[in-house]
Amino acid sequence: MPEVIGTIDELRNRLGAARDKAAMMGGDTRIVLVPTMGALHDGHLALIRRARQLGDIVLVSIFVNPLQFGANEDLDRYPRTLEADLQALALEGVPFVFAPSAREMYPETNNTTRVAAGPVGLLLEGAARPGHFDGMLTVVAKLLNIVAPDTAVFGQKDAQQVFLVQSMVADLNVRVAIDVVPTVREHSGLALSSRNRNLTTAESEAAAALSAGLTAAQVAASHGATAALAAAHALIDPQALVKLDYLVVVHPHTFFPVSADHVGPARMLVAALVGTTRLIDNVALDVA
Ligand code: PAF
Repeated sequence: MPEVIGTIDELRNRLGAARDKAAMMGGDTRIVLVPTMGALHDGHLALIRRARQLGDIVLVSIFVNPLQFGANEDLDRYPRTLEADLQALALEGVPFVFAPSAREMYPETNNTTRVAAGPVGLLLEGAARPGHFDGMLTVVAKLLNIVAPDTAVFGQKDAQQVFLVQSMVADLNVRVAIDVVPTVREHSGLALSSRNRNLTTAESEAAAALSAGLTAAQVAASHGATAALAAAHALIDPQALVKLDYLVVVHPHTFFPVSADHVGPARMLVAALVGTTRLIDNVALDVA
């Protein structure tokens, strides 16, 4: 089983000792951080396998970050499955898990500083979930400062999160490489998410229209962004159980919606409520 570390001091000591040991043997220790909120699924395992290719020590953090949940959101409902997570991580050979308490990460004093996500943090997921990205970036910044990893690994499924983490690292000159792993999908195409376990069978079947729409958009993108959007709508809109929040094509460098005459790389993003579960997904487009 991985060693579960609950405090920042202990984690720094353990990582420091590992670095010292490697240095004494004339080597280097590359630490790779995989930040998670637990409830691990195959998508997380893909991040961990990638992390093992990139470094010597894989550190998985498990922390359901209260700061990135709004007042009406599913913080209490968010699945907490530490024992099962540890067993899955043991099978992957992960040596260390950082699983701090909320009090450890946000002590009662000195915890009012926040990372502001800026304009992109207000769009799309940020519009639906006010404050979400400030909370997410704040905890990611804390984790990067605590662990000082060489690389941190994120999943492409949360495209806006990836964009904002990359922006923060560039803007604040954080010394870390960000590695992005492709989305892992169910056979139906549905992107893996810890929230999928809340879907009924009928909802899960309906939710597959999201990825089907995105795939159709990739083909239609050879006729432009408007055609790509129409192709996705044609598959998603008829699903009665799927309440679309947004379906947009954004520029990969700005994350703002592209104009109708855009040509070149882009990303299509979708968010929908399926039953009571909010799902997101995205794909790269080559718009011609
Ligand atoms: O993607 C997630 O699970 C979370 O947003 C993260 C990056 C672990 C920060 O809490």
